[in-house]
Amino acid sequence: MADQRPLNPDALKMFSFVVFSKLEGAVTAGMIHLGDTLGLYSTLAERPDGETTASLAARSGLHERWVREWIHNQVAANIVSCVDLSADEPLFYLTPEAVAVLATPQHPAYGMGMFHRLPQTMGALHQMPESFRTGIGHDYDSHGPEGAVGIERSFEPWNQNFLIPKVIPALSGMHQKLSAGARVADIGCGAGGLAILLAKTYPNSEIIGYDISRHALDRAHERLREERLSNVSFADPRDTPIDGTFDLICTFDCIHDMTHPTEMMKTIRRSLSEDGTWLLVDIKAHDSLELNVTKNPMASLLYGISVLSCMSSAMSAPDAEGLGTLGLSATRAEDMARSAGFSSFQRLDIDHNVNAFYEIRP
Ligand SMILES: C[S@@+](CC[C@H](N)C(=O)[O-])C[C@H]1O[C@@H](n2cnc3c(N)ncnc32)[C@H](O)[C@@H]1O
Repeated sequence: MADQRPLNPDALKMFSFVVFSKLEGAVTAGMIHLGDTLGLYSTLAERPDGETTASLAARSGLHERWVREWIHNQVAANIVSCVDLSADEPLFYLTPEAVAVLATPQHPAYGMGMFHRLPQTMGALHQMPESFRTGIGHDYDSHGPEGAVGIERSFEPWNQNFLIPKVIPALSGMHQKLSAGARVADIGCGAGGLAILLAKTYPNSEIIGYDISRHALDRAHERLREERLSNVSFADPRDTPIDGTFDLICTFDCIHDMTHPTEMMKTIRRSLSEDGTWLLVDIKAHDSLELNVTKNPMASLLYGISVLSCMSSAMSAPDAEGLGTLGLSATRAEDMARSAGFSSFQRLDIDHNVNAFYEIRP
């Protein structure tokens, strides 16, 4: 039977606005992807006093009419700023904050990684109806090589800035162990940036990065060739099982993506020396839908990314556990770690917008 409840016209307007503001966000996200891909942000960042679209287009080697329409979207969305909107030939510029987020890859607030992989993430929509019917998702390789580069650009800016000065010193005795020479595994290492950083910083230590993504491992090997380091290597754990005894095992933003995280935690426990450390870094999730929705302003983004990417990966086998982006709260991580045989579980006092950090010991 059709819904007989009366419509409130104001509520209808407001609801339509909410729905279409999501479309505005999605389309503007596509424009951010273009601005990044075409180098428009880095070019604009070179002229803090502003420049016309003719100048920006000429310096970027692009057609002015297209650059003008793009920048009008960016100004309307409050991403690019304008000196005087009423001018005949307005000057456009980036604020210092916009330069950090849009055009400075070394800055911890740099945010272009998720936009880099936007076409791949949204492309997953084609596979979703089938996944919703069968229950089977798709691993990270389904996003192709650019998906792996997008992950690299998403997570590394913060990690490269804070792993060595903040995170390692927070783990008891770890800096000394690594300096003397320790055996380290980075499981779910992606494009290998952190494994390479650890190997460079601690030349006496041996680092092995493990990942099941062919594209991520290809990228990690490519970066390794540029670095010429002999104390780091990369492997697919299905070809070269995680073996021997490690002093430190790291998992950065990947346990919630795994089809069998319980098994992985048992493998980590087995592979860690008795005074070893598991550094678990995972999304700052709450214990319930209510808490995630009321306490995390990014919850809808994270649940959506989960469907398209994280949970899809975590469901990419028939008997998968399917944690997903917000599936590993501190309580759940602790329960799972204790069941896997760990007896010490501590949350580290490290401030990060998205991630929580845990020191877990046998
Ligand atoms: C979100 S990415 C994080 C990559 C990297 N740790 C970083 O911070 O940039 C998750 C990674 O976990 C990997 N992964 C998923 N399941 C895995 C498994 N069972 N063993 C190893 N890696 C896995 C994926 O291939 C992907 O590269």
